[in-house]
Amino acid sequence: MTQIFAHRGYSASFAENTMGAFVEAEKARADGIELDVQLTKDGEIVVIHDEKVDRTTSGKGFIKDFLYKDIRKLNANNKGVKKESIPSLSEVLEWLKTNKLQCNIELKNGLITYEGMEEKVIQLVRKYGLSDRIIISSFNHYSIVYCYRLAPEIETAPLFIEGIYMPWIYSQSIKAKGIHPKHSAMSDNIIINTMENGIAVRPYTVNKDADMHRLFNLNCTAIITDDPVKAFKIRKQY
Ligand code: G3P
Ligand code: CA
Repeated sequence: MTQIFAHRGYSASFAENTMGAFVEAEKARADGIELDVQLTKDGEIVVIHDEKVDRTTSGKGFIKDFLYKDIRKLNANNKGVKKESIPSLSEVLEWLKTNKLQCNIELKNGLITYEGMEEKVIQLVRKYGLSDRIIISSFNHYSIVYCYRLAPEIETAPLFIEGIYMPWIYSQSIKAKGIHPKHSAMSDNIIINTMENGIAVRPYTVNKDADMHRLFNLNCTAIITDDPVKAFKIRKQY
């Protein structure tokens, strides 16, 4: 059965990349969550999509210029009234120990090169004993290769915006067990061939009914969606 990963948590209804959105994704019976990580000035891995805090929080500026204690003061709940701090990755991993969810950690190290990000993320995943429930993804494929070298026991998956020719060959060449393509970038045949070659396919960001039907019908490995409640309802038909 196709798994459902809640993109930035249950972000269709709750503030993205907050503990609230992750908890609600679990309540919605998602199989996993997807989240984005950046690095503060003092080396804390924090869960937030953009390089700046401006769009999603009450503050302004680059994450790389904030101390962790200061970034925690910002309110990341732009969809509700209850204050939410930007979570640290540690906080999320600690919470994951209380449930069975999988977690796709996307390293946001494409626009800004965060020195030591891969080592820090892997150290935390190992500390919490979660290597078998984590998938590390990134648009930065050098980083994907580096993560595999550091921690071959943790699954990796390159992210793609455009389609590529025979993606399973590419994935195998960088030792990635999965690929995370933009959902419109892969035809049915390429998805089937990729899975038949032993590579997991988890397209993003699948929010429309018709796109969910297409991927559930193909028995795709997983979909990454903002709306795990809708996805759960549609999946019941398969
Ligand atoms: O993991 C897939 C997806 O999250 C990549 O795009 O911009 O939503 O992080 P973005
Ligand atoms: Ca992401």
